[in-house]
Amino acid sequence: MSPPPVRLHVTGLTRAFGGQPVVDDLSLTIAAGQVTCLLGPSGCGKSTTLRMIAGVEPLDNGRVVIDGRVVADQGLHLPPEARSVGLMFQDFALFPHMTVAQNVGFGLRDARDYKARRVDALLERVNLTGFGPKHPHQLSGGEQQRVALARALAPRPRVMLMDEPFSGLDNRLRDGIRDTTLEVLKDEGTAVLLVTHEPDEALRMGDEIALMRAGRIVQRGSPYNVYNAPVDRAAAAFFSDINVIRGTSRGALTNTPFGAFLTPGHAEGAEVEIVIRPQHLKIDFDRAGRGPNPTPQDGTAARGTVTRARFLGRESLVDFAMDFDGSRLTASVPNVFLPKPGTALWLMIRRDRCFVFPAGR
Ligand SMILES: Nc1ncnc2c1ncn2[C@@H]1O[C@H](COP(=O)(O)OP(=O)(O)OP(=O)(O)O)[C@@H](O)[C@H]1O
Ligand SMILES: [Mg+2]
Repeated sequence: MSPPPVRLHVTGLTRAFGGQPVVDDLSLTIAAGQVTCLLGPSGCGKSTTLRMIAGVEPLDNGRVVIDGRVVADQGLHLPPEARSVGLMFQDFALFPHMTVAQNVGFGLRDARDYKARRVDALLERVNLTGFGPKHPHQLSGGEQQRVALARALAPRPRVMLMDEPFSGLDNRLRDGIRDTTLEVLKDEGTAVLLVTHEPDEALRMGDEIALMRAGRIVQRGSPYNVYNAPVDRAAAAFFSDINVIRGTSRGALTNTPFGAFLTPGHAEGAEVEIVIRPQHLKIDFDRAGRGPNPTPQDGTAARGTVTRARFLGRESLVDFAMDFDGSRLTASVPNVFLPKPGTALWLMIRRDRCFVFPAGR
């Protein structure tokens, strides 16, 4: 099978406001049927990127190619309606005076019976069969969102650009609508660029995550890889709380509460940070002042004292002060585990889940 065709190809996209670069030499490629989530903190330039691709914002530099056709570069700026892009934003505003069917058919200029069939098929696809004659104010937020999706898909855009389209929906509605949206977009073979500042949404929706910071993409990859092989501490911290164990690399080893860590590639005397997510700390009980035996995977156990334990529903978070140096670590445990403050326990860290970075980056 040949790989799916590239639908969106962006190179060197750049935009500055008042001399301040907001999007800086950004490149992206998205194939048919692929969802790329542009993920990053507030203000990092996600919406500006999307708006330049959509054509509602000019670019200073770079090129946007949709389905093999240049739609924008330094000298060229096709209007949004000439780019074969569908747009969905948080405030997706349906036309209030039009019925659901008229909203969905709005962008279609085809013959009337084709249009009616396409509108019906799309309403069925988003589970709104029979809603055609209703008006937007008669629909729930989730239903309105699905009408907006059907409307954006009606003209069969090659690329769907979505800017936090689910953030106006309440939590329980959101998951169902995300899944329906994904299914429909995949079926239609649309290339999707979804902007979000929520890591959970990106992990759930993306075939690929492009992690953005200060106008640049700092890491791209599958959700699994971006989560499990972050490029730096900030990339790790974007997806979950993290523990940071600081130390000094000597002879390619760094001493920690958990014994010596291999830290090759760091200069003699360099400060390093060993980063581990709370769910990769293992807890074991105190056996009259002794801990579990060391294993190759978990290394040496270290004793700590519980300072606080919280129940969060799916997991419990337990904070520790380590005997070794008083440093603070947090472990997460599935379900309920609420030891009393002052309890001595032993911690082990999954060495294959640790990331070692130079300090201060
Ligand atoms: N038209 C504009 N004029 C001046 N500055 C702008 C303009 N549009 C955006 N900015 C600035 O550019 C930066 C990036 O904005 P952008 O909306 O792209 O961020 P974002 O990543 O989408 O953030 P959020 O997650 O909060 O939506 C911000 O500092 C913003 O204030
Ligand atoms: Mg934004």
